Amino acid sequence: MKFHMHTPVMVQEVLHYIAPRKGGIYVDCTLGTGGHSQAMLEKTDGKIRLIGIDWDEEAINISCKHLREYKEQVVLVRANFADITKILKEENIYKVNGFLYDLGLSSHQLDNVFRGFSFREDALLDMRMDKREKINAADIVNKSSQSELEDILWNLGEERWAKRMAEFIIEERKVCPITSTKQLVEILKRAVPAKFRRGRKIHFATRTFQALRIAVNRELENLQKSLSEAINFLSSGGKICVMSYHSLEDRIVKSKFKQVEGKELRILTPKVVKPSLQETKENPRSRSARLRAAERL
Ligand SMILES: C[S@@+](CC[C@H](N)C(=O)[O-])C[C@H]1O[C@@H](n2cnc3c(N)ncnc32)[C@H](O)[C@@H]1O
Repeated sequence: MKFHMHTPVMVQEVLHYIAPRKGGIYVDCTLGTGGHSQAMLEKTDGKIRLIGIDWDEEAINISCKHLREYKEQVVLVRANFADITKILKEENIYKVNGFLYDLGLSSHQLDNVFRGFSFREDALLDMRMDKREKINAADIVNKSSQSELEDILWNLGEERWAKRMAEFIIEERKVCPITSTKQLVEILKRAVPAKFRRGRKIHFATRTFQALRIAVNRELENLQKSLSEAINFLSSGGKICVMSYHSLEDRIVKSKFKQVEGKELRILTPKVVKPSLQETKENPRSRSARLRAAERL
């Protein structure tokens, strides 16, 4: 099978903040296709123990091949990073020198039209990152009440047309279930008046698709839980580095770090770190990345 390698974002910045050292234990909570893990392994001549976590089966399979040179040092776990305590205890790990979170989607997920993440391609309305999960985007769109839908689009997509979109979805649903990305895009198109559609900087479906993806995968809840638990595993001087791709995630990271600043963590990035202009030109998907890092006291 042909697989798509994801171009890792801000690799030098990640290495700078995590500062991996030989003999240490590092956890890549969002393994993807293993780009950042590989960089940490190369930086330390493979002399670290690395736990790579991803809930996406394809990501684990790709990384397994990609990192095979380091198979003695690496353990790959297919799991939700929200279960970090359980995952580490099962590996008999109680202290960690560095955690990395590179949130969001990997290119192999975005580029696979069948997964339903893109509003530009017609596919089943799925959006599950972990195929073992039961609820997909179609379930949310077809089974939520109008006010629940409005809340999802407003709170998780910051979509100003949330109310009208929810109304239009409910109307369409009465006629037939909404099962495809194309069908949903057509409904959203009708919900947003033409003059506002034309004037928008981003596509009128962008925010709805983002909101549904966050809801399906419970992304904010998972991040909250995982960060709190990961901090407890950090050894003194251990680092935690998080890259997020939208403001809701970044807000969670910022406020979690602030909450324990001076007690458990020292913040290493007083100002959020963004990719260089050069990197955003070479890899437009890095554009929205925001990095925050902290050190265990
Ligand atoms: C942006 S990609 C990471 C790319 C990676 N740093 C690389 O260099 O290839 C994000 C990855 O995190 C995974 N992911 C997102 N949320 C997760 C969660 N709650 N638990 C486990 N994996 C998750 C996704 O499946 C995806 O593969």
